[in-house]
Amino acid sequence: MSSGDARKTAEGLSYLSGFGNEHASEAVPGALPEGRNSPQRAPLGLYAEQLSGTAFTEPRARNRRSWLYRIRPSAAHPEFTRAGNGELRTGPFTETAADPNRLRWDPLPEPAGGTDFLAGLWTLGGNGDAAQRTGMAVHLYHANASMDRVFGDSDGELLIVPERGGLLLRTEFGLLHAEPGDVALIPRGVRFRVELLDATARGYVCENYGAPFHLPDLGPIGANGLANPRDFRAPVAAYEDVEGPVEVVNKFCGNLWSATYGHSPLDVVAWHGNHVPYVYDLRRFNVIGSISYDHPDPSIFTVLTSPSDTPGLAGVDFVVFAPRWLVGEDTFRPPYFHRNVMSEYMGLIEGAYDAKTAGKGGFVPGGGSLHNMMSAHGPDRETFDRASAAELRPQRVDDGLAFMFETRWPLTLTPHAAGADHLQQRYDDVWNGLERHFRPLH
Ligand SMILES: [Fe+2]
Repeated sequence: MSSGDARKTAEGLSYLSGFGNEHASEAVPGALPEGRNSPQRAPLGLYAEQLSGTAFTEPRARNRRSWLYRIRPSAAHPEFTRAGNGELRTGPFTETAADPNRLRWDPLPEPAGGTDFLAGLWTLGGNGDAAQRTGMAVHLYHANASMDRVFGDSDGELLIVPERGGLLLRTEFGLLHAEPGDVALIPRGVRFRVELLDATARGYVCENYGAPFHLPDLGPIGANGLANPRDFRAPVAAYEDVEGPVEVVNKFCGNLWSATYGHSPLDVVAWHGNHVPYVYDLRRFNVIGSISYDHPDPSIFTVLTSPSDTPGLAGVDFVVFAPRWLVGEDTFRPPYFHRNVMSEYMGLIEGAYDAKTAGKGGFVPGGGSLHNMMSAHGPDRETFDRASAAELRPQRVDDGLAFMFETRWPLTLTPHAAGADHLQQRYDDVWNGLERHFRPLH
């Protein structure tokens, strides 16, 4: 499909609404069985199949599964054989020594011609172990061709954060449209294909090996706020009835495996359940902040969290710095200097970030920074000087959209990220010139 046709399709989509709902959808009336999941004969000659995102026995509030009604069962596939991993890597990350330095990258260089989303994945680093279902990886992608193959990730769910170029995601559950400023969430194991809506596409991916992302608890904030559940959009059922060779790639315990099916596996005519893909517009994030003094801890900006066995300690949080007002009195308003037990990878979708000076050689859209566990960071000198002297009138911060993957374990880099030409060599210099101002009273 041409990018123009794909865009027309993307812009005409309708959706189901609500994160974690028990959704149900059928592309053909009568395709979804009533009153049971696995009737003796599924309607319309379809095969019934369950896809489990959590163990059968996990608590109901955390349980994820969907029932799919498809032209052929997923089991009808030929042998998978090893394929090249390109620049995709998976935890455990052992090829470099974990680095305590503050690090920052410029955007990825342009891809070679004919690079699709899967081939364009470039792993920066990560932590944990995919086979142990703990930890996460940070990937970037750059692509200039639509996929004609289908991908599914057995190792984790994929949170896709476009920075340049729109995407049409054709999934087993139906179609999603994600533009820069949106994020798309593809659950573990769900097969999908990425078509480009523009000449190139670039962005970030958090691959979460751990427990599926869910919305954070709100505590005293109340029943509403941060990312509101109804703003997450799930697809309506849509299927391909395609006979003929289709390459299907499965990422499994760190390696890509490929098989050539005789049909498209995106052949789900109806489905119901809560293990489903979503798209979410980050500009809908309801930013909660201080209306008295001090910059709140950035956990207040959490969109989605992957919990661990320790309450409040996330395997990974996805955090957004969305447009907001700053009104704090007698307050240093940008993010404060700090050292954090959590490790922070930060990216920029557009504009500038309020703790860093923008522009060439700085923190730019498509670039990223890594502040690993306990590394000291905060505003650069220029930002510190400006914010320390600023007149504290109400101030709208709306010139950028930054995000963070914040994780409980340090990230270890891949060799190609540690040695990249686009790794900035003098990032430490942004904190140069933070002069001594101390004047003890005698
Ligand atoms: Fe930080």
